[in-house]
Amino acid sequence: MPAASAQYDVIILGAGAAGMMCAFEAGKRGRRVLLLEHSDRVGRKILISGGGRCNFTNLHTRPENFLSSNPHFAKSALARFTPADMIALVDRHGIRYHEKTLGQLFCDDSAQRIVALLKRECEEARVEIRTSVSVLGVTAANSLFTVATSTGPLTANSVVVATGGLSIPKMGATGIGYDIARSFGHTLIEPRAGLVPLVFAPEDRDRWCDLTGLSTESIARTESASPRKNPPSFREKLLITHRGLSGPVALQISSYWQAGKTLRFDLSPGVDAFAPLLRKNARRDDAALIDALRCLLPARMADRWLTLHATGDYTNSGLARLEAQLHDWTFTPAGTEGFAKAEVTVGGLDTRELDARTMESRRVGGLYFIGEVIDVTGWLGGYNFQWAWASAVAAAQAL
Ligand code: FDA
Repeated sequence: MPAASAQYDVIILGAGAAGMMCAFEAGKRGRRVLLLEHSDRVGRKILISGGGRCNFTNLHTRPENFLSSNPHFAKSALARFTPADMIALVDRHGIRYHEKTLGQLFCDDSAQRIVALLKRECEEARVEIRTSVSVLGVTAANSLFTVATSTGPLTANSVVVATGGLSIPKMGATGIGYDIARSFGHTLIEPRAGLVPLVFAPEDRDRWCDLTGLSTESIARTESASPRKNPPSFREKLLITHRGLSGPVALQISSYWQAGKTLRFDLSPGVDAFAPLLRKNARRDDAALIDALRCLLPARMADRWLTLHATGDYTNSGLARLEAQLHDWTFTPAGTEGFAKAEVTVGGLDTRELDARTMESRRVGGLYFIGEVIDVTGWLGGYNFQWAWASAVAAAQAL
């Protein structure tokens, strides 16, 4: 069948952040675009993002803020659609926003505003949106793609897979993007849960989990895989939960954690907690130790930490040992809370098989992958949406 007989120039699978952005950018370029979504509405994940306020970008976005088997892959797309471009779009729609911390931009009122922006742009670009339609698979023959759906087959000259990763199946996540990739001979980097709470082993749960809700500033790092490489580290809040650890610092480090490996937390970043005991004529006893640590950690957390670590050795070397332990609290998580609680999926479509400028498959011309389905995963803080927007625009410019 000749390509001209296609019903659409492009069918985009998945109306999340990446799919909607790609749809209207391609529509603006005169393409006949169909956007398919199996939920009953578009942009569901955007609505719950950023605690309902959508952290839609990060001012400090750099390629170093992303995990990927190929750290260079994201550079081109990120350079061509920047946080400033996203801010300009948000400004055009009169959406007010603020910087919360560390360059993270959130809507002042509601994430609904970002979904409304995307819907309006799609409308203006004459994108046809069909919700409650499940994509079942894609085949290609004679330069024509056929998308099998729950409401029958549809044809297009190009297909963009924007079906996201596996995180939060309750919000509509499926593995269809990976299935489509595999069916065209693509390789996957094993998907795993990222930005996800960590689960303690039973002995650590017994030690800590009655302190649920307590939090403290800390630095988290993984063990270095190679002595020459600096392992990534993050400095943010650590939160004890009823199953293990959460809070921004635990979520950030979870994306780098490999099952069975150790994590290290500095519970007193930049401060020598027990220095007051080393001063001339200072008291050196349990009460002084508790007072010193309670200046840094919530009282119950300080007390528990000392119960587990203090030995009653108040010599200089005994205190130095305790100080070192506080700056290097080491444990091996039993696991994570998995895709049900993960904000993102680490891994996905192997970037070596995609063109970094256009997101087009190197195996099958006309087939594109954008957003979270690709093996590019951002840190917490608006980076994942910035990747969704940037990869979407890169593909749209090539469609
Ligand atoms: P996304 O998952 O958004 O969209 C994929 C779409 O495909 C979905 O609408 C899905 O229903 C649809 N789909 C799947 N299978 C289908 C099928 N078979 N047929 C048809 N449609 C199908 N990031 C950030 O930068 N700032 C933030 O504030 C947050 N906050 C946040 C909170 C929570 C709770 C989560 C879970 C995640 C975040 N994130 C985030 C991450 C961010 O939401 C995520 O990286 C992007 O939504 C990815 O965009 P995509 O368009 O690639 O996938």
